[in-house]
Amino acid sequence: MTEKILLQTILSPSDQQTVTPVWLMRQAGRYLPEYQQIRKSVDSFLTCCYTPSLAAEITLQPIRRFDLDAAIIFSDILVIPDALGIKVRFEESKGPVLDVIHTPEDIHTLALCESTLEPVYEAIQLVKNKLPVSTSLIGFAGAPWTLAAYMLEGRSSQGFLLARQWAYRYPQAFTQLLTLLEDTIVTHLLKQVDAGCDAVQLFDSWAGILNEDEILSWSLEPLRRVIARFKAAAPQVPVICFPRGVGVHYELFANQVGADVISVDQFTPLAWLSKRTKTILQGNLDPVLLATDLDKTLQKTQMIKDAMHGRPFIFNLGHGVLPFTPVEHVEALIRQVRK
Ligand code: CP3
Repeated sequence: MTEKILLQTILSPSDQQTVTPVWLMRQAGRYLPEYQQIRKSVDSFLTCCYTPSLAAEITLQPIRRFDLDAAIIFSDILVIPDALGIKVRFEESKGPVLDVIHTPEDIHTLALCESTLEPVYEAIQLVKNKLPVSTSLIGFAGAPWTLAAYMLEGRSSQGFLLARQWAYRYPQAFTQLLTLLEDTIVTHLLKQVDAGCDAVQLFDSWAGILNEDEILSWSLEPLRRVIARFKAAAPQVPVICFPRGVGVHYELFANQVGADVISVDQFTPLAWLSKRTKTILQGNLDPVLLATDLDKTLQKTQMIKDAMHGRPFIFNLGHGVLPFTPVEHVEALIRQVRK
């Protein structure tokens, strides 16, 4: 029997769960002064991701401060495009900027440079040696659609309209791109497990901008294939899937994508979804509440716990911790979950 509460919740789920495991997406990062300090000492965010000692240290920072059940390796979903040959930069006020794919021929120039991702696995090994035995280590990757969206659009965007238009203009090349990403994501996840990760999460952060047909063929199906291939190679390793913003389609993801856990955004009522699936749920406090209103945060946290009482559940946010979140709010939130 594992001492890791998060793993236990997923691998031996019980209706009599007495402790609620908790971790937070983006729990390492800019709201922590000790992260800011490291960040100031290096030229770029990607240097943090690609320097194993720094990535390991940043991963451990929230674990030292808070009573969390999991660490998530400090990295980014965009290391995959970077390793495929699409250069990624992070600009201070703009976020990520990528060399864009223009023509279908550009797809054929993409090839995985495995050594680019090696520092991620080294960081995982370093973290593994320093993590308390009760703390699980989560590896992750972006989902095929979300990664394709950034590679085709070249930056963050409200609706990723360039990416969607490209997919319709060049359907065959778009399918080739998704397939290449599926292969790369499976490889990257399995290597993270080999390096020491206990579980993995897939982030489809931009699934919610797609129409119904696109959600099925560009988000659900590719994720289903990725998870099936991952599970064939690592059947014991839990998979968490986060199809952000998919609304009523959450039901389909929960029942068909093949994940052990579905991470739910703050727009979807947990009580609604829990009536429609037996899959373990994770979520879904609004990160804006956490950043701005501690009283409401604590009330809502209790409501979430009450709504999920009697079924296996992992407490998390509906999206990542925001940079302007007071550290004391995070502390108080975790205490409330533990009550
Ligand atoms: O603590 C953790 O959760 C692990 C680290 C982590 C980061 N990014 C660090 C990061 C994880 C899991 C991610 C995932 C990620 N990256 C997603 C999926 C989750 C989501 O938020 O929807 C996405 C879409 C990205 C791409 C990305 N990376 C963007 C759009 C940006 C710029 C906007 C922003 O939030 O800053 C980043 C940069 C980034 N990734 C930072 C961090 C700590 C900030 C970099 C800095 O220090 O300036």
